[in-house]
Amino acid sequence: MLGKVAVIGAGNVGATAAQRVAEKHLARSVVMIDVVEGVPQGKALDQWQSGPIEGFDARVVGGQSYDLAAGAELFIITAGIARKPGMSRDDLVKTNAGIVRSVAEQIARVAPDSIMVVVSNPLDVMCYVAMKASGFPRERVIGMAGVLDTARYRMFLAEAIGVSVEDIQAMVLGGHGDTMVPLVSYTAVSGIPVTQLLDRERLDAIVTRTRDGGAEIVGFLKTGSAYYAPSAAAVQMVEAIALDKKRILPCAAWLQGEYGLKDVFCGVPCKLGRGGLEQVVQVRLTEAEQAELEKSAEAVRVTQATLDGRGG
Ligand code: NAI
Ligand code: 2OP
Repeated sequence: MLGKVAVIGAGNVGATAAQRVAEKHLARSVVMIDVVEGVPQGKALDQWQSGPIEGFDARVVGGQSYDLAAGAELFIITAGIARKPGMSRDDLVKTNAGIVRSVAEQIARVAPDSIMVVVSNPLDVMCYVAMKASGFPRERVIGMAGVLDTARYRMFLAEAIGVSVEDIQAMVLGGHGDTMVPLVSYTAVSGIPVTQLLDRERLDAIVTRTRDGGAEIVGFLKTGSAYYAPSAAAVQMVEAIALDKKRILPCAAWLQGEYGLKDVFCGVPCKLGRGGLEQVVQVRLTEAEQAELEKSAEAVRVTQATLDGRGG
């Protein structure tokens, strides 16, 4: 268990993530920080009072000041604006870059040795902003997207095949956008290659639905985007780090030559433990998957370049 986990942004993803951290006994103290006065305070008080029913002792507090988060070992960054219908994740870039930059600077000030799990969109580029603004090494800035995209992919597959999702092994790599890369060559059902259980047409339809998974939910909600599965995904990463589990999960990492990619955040298999990103795990991809991964990283790079003043 960690001493303190802080969640920045007490909106839909942030507040749900804070609650999951407390309920999973991952920290003795859970802090929510948001710019809207009263909201993190009220939500924290409400969550704390669920402790006797849910059986946790974590002290949940909220406020506006980063002093509350001083010394936290781990931060979940969800501050920013979310998508509305018709918006891509990249449409959020300018607004959220300013927000994430100021958040990361504050985190570096009050908890210079902490680990950041970034959630704000566009995810891969916000990881870059957070890493630059904090000056943290890549081991301590990790993006959440692949765990969510993989959860969607696994759930759709389980339903189509008619089996428990527990038996679906899969991984979605690449940037968190329309170019994400579900790895069909590593998708299995209790070790059985998925191509033996689903025809190509149905598999392609599931890959497409996975890529559009976020937009499908925005289309229903209209005023915001998904948060139950996203908060669960972020907290699975927190759990792997807090409990030093050495789990291999698809996360956005700052690549330094792995998969032939350099100086870009992109979703790849990552070993997570108490040190944060402990290893980028390199696996063999098919030629087509490697090409898709490169295309996806290029899409991230284009958005990243707009922030560096190199793009349009
Ligand atoms: P939300 O609008 O419910 O919550 C965002 C919160 O951030 C609001 O409470 C707002 O007041 C707060 N905020 C804004 N500026 C801030 C600042 N400077 N400091 C602290 N707090 C600040 O949005 P939601 O649904 O919680 O989504 C949050 C972000 O996460 C969005 O950018 C969304 O696109 C992204 N997201 C990413 C996912 C992923 O897979 N990486 C999945 C789901 C959401
Ligand atoms: C999602 O995939 C909006 O990125 C968010 O649901």
